[in-house]
Amino acid sequence: MPIRLAILLSGSGTTLQNLIDHINDGKLDATISIVISSKPNAYGLIRAQQNKIPTAIVSPKNYPDFKTFNEALWKTIRQYPVDLVVLAGFLSLIEVPPDFTNRIMNIHPALIPAFCGKGMYGHHVHEAVIKSGVKITGCTVHFVDEQYDHGPIILQEAVPVFEDDTPETLAERVQAKEREIYPKAIQLFAEGRLKVEGNKVKILPAVRKETF
Ligand code: GAR
Repeated sequence: MPIRLAILLSGSGTTLQNLIDHINDGKLDATISIVISSKPNAYGLIRAQQNKIPTAIVSPKNYPDFKTFNEALWKTIRQYPVDLVVLAGFLSLIEVPPDFTNRIMNIHPALIPAFCGKGMYGHHVHEAVIKSGVKITGCTVHFVDEQYDHGPIILQEAVPVFEDDTPETLAERVQAKEREIYPKAIQLFAEGRLKVEGNKVKILPAVRKETF
């Protein structure tokens, strides 16, 4: 049985598109039950509609505080069958209800715990990386807890930072790796191969299918 995803985004939705492409190519054993945007004009909503995926908008601007925004968000998510919530450039903090502990994933365009936290998203991350002078950056897929870009790390990939990099050239290199590791992490979840022990995630070996 494919796992059922809720995808939360706020922007252009290239991460969503990559997951749709992996599903359509038979490389990711999942279906997308709902795409929720925190911004009414996010292009990711159009990508979802083009693929006949149900969409919803839950914007923090329409709620007086974090708590009521999150209540509305979870009320929307729970209207659909969802095994895993996937953050795909979602710019709001999300509450983690007990039954969704280790069932929410995020991708961050740096090697956390470096270059992450509130305000550190998209190009801001790559600008900070270049400014700092580090020689290596990368991307991280992790389970989500109640802090920005925080929680048990599932997969990380390193990417070199070159002397003549701009935030755009660096973003391109990091995003190429993002397109590899996010579907890979979700597929590991779908295969039941992610075991969380404290803040560590163990990747269990694949179960061999016996043929008689
Ligand atoms: C992705 O690069 C993702 O890593 C980043 O937002 C981008 C979303 O792009 N996420 C964060 O920075 C999380 N802190 P998209 O809207 O084109 O999918």
